[in-house]
Amino acid sequence: MRMYSGRTTLSKFLIEQLNDAGDGGQLAGLLVDMAAAVKTIAAMTGKGALGGHYGGAGAANIHGEEQKKLDMLADEAIMDHCEWGGLVAGMASEEHEEPLQIPPDFQRGPYLLVFDPLDGSSNVEMNVSVGTIFSVLRHGSEAAPIERDFLQPGVRQIAAGYAIYGPATMLVLTVGKGTHGFTLDREIGNFVLTHPEIRIAPDSSEFGINTSNERFWEPPVQRYVSECQAGATGIRGRDFNMRWIASMVADVHRILMRGGVFMYPRDTKFPGKPGRLRLMYEANPIAFVVEQAGGAASTGRGRMLEVQPEALHQRVPVAFGSRHEIERIERYHAEYDGGTDKPYHSPLFKERSLYRTES
Ligand code: F6P
Repeated sequence: MRMYSGRTTLSKFLIEQLNDAGDGGQLAGLLVDMAAAVKTIAAMTGKGALGGHYGGAGAANIHGEEQKKLDMLADEAIMDHCEWGGLVAGMASEEHEEPLQIPPDFQRGPYLLVFDPLDGSSNVEMNVSVGTIFSVLRHGSEAAPIERDFLQPGVRQIAAGYAIYGPATMLVLTVGKGTHGFTLDREIGNFVLTHPEIRIAPDSSEFGINTSNERFWEPPVQRYVSECQAGATGIRGRDFNMRWIASMVADVHRILMRGGVFMYPRDTKFPGKPGRLRLMYEANPIAFVVEQAGGAASTGRGRMLEVQPEALHQRVPVAFGSRHEIERIERYHAEYDGGTDKPYHSPLFKERSLYRTES
């Protein structure tokens, strides 16, 4: 029996999915280059302490966060793999304030690539799963792109995905035709389709949020989480489970595998920041992947993919996951904003009560 019979490699999958893209295979080519970068990063992170890559790079990024050596190496790996092929017009990374220009020796292509090279990297020395997140947009002109060209709402993404470097390395992506997961066969070096057509269940009983920030949250988020915590004795009428890995890719991957909700809401801890996560290379690509898997992605006050970006590194509040739960979170924000959530503040509302209309 042939070793790969019945299996679909990433290249085969992309050729089939994008045969009507009308771009001569360029998008497929770019995603294959991105997958090559992911393999390089998987090899580096997989060596752990033996790779000599742990520790700080001796600088902070524009967000004031310590850059790890691995952040910088992952960033370079993506640039090296994606800048040479004439497929991208420019790139933007969490690690660089300005968009990255394509070196003059290489041709520019039709796409913009935006990425977070190593999400959750503060966890890397604890050997917790980390990830890479990426988004592909179209560049509408021949000129070298400037920041304004990148500021397209998430609905304009033509591909997006993430890699998770866990016990297995996986690549999960969408080109707008469902969300699909590939597992790296380390011996052969191929990504193999193992999770076709991922679906997020519309209902769930699991939520993920950093509850140490509870006192800084807005009332609708406090309301949602306290109802989950009240479990079977509260208005939800069932027990909820809580999970927080503090590595968004790992938390989101769990939701894609078994449902649930991930939130990093607006809070007052850092009043100048409207949330922790970045719109262009964290929230939007994950929102595209989640929606294509039947889930929902929101700021709490509207669909994530419709937010008009104003800056490359702008932050945004996020709620991703099971559709009915995200709808509930949006409803709580609307009720709070409209001043119609007053009954919630009544003591009667906190337990099985007159106000309990659903479970
Ligand atoms: O974006 C950075 C990030 O590491 C995410 O991957 C993760 O979800 C979040 O920050 C963790 O935040 P906290 O440190 O508040 O748990």
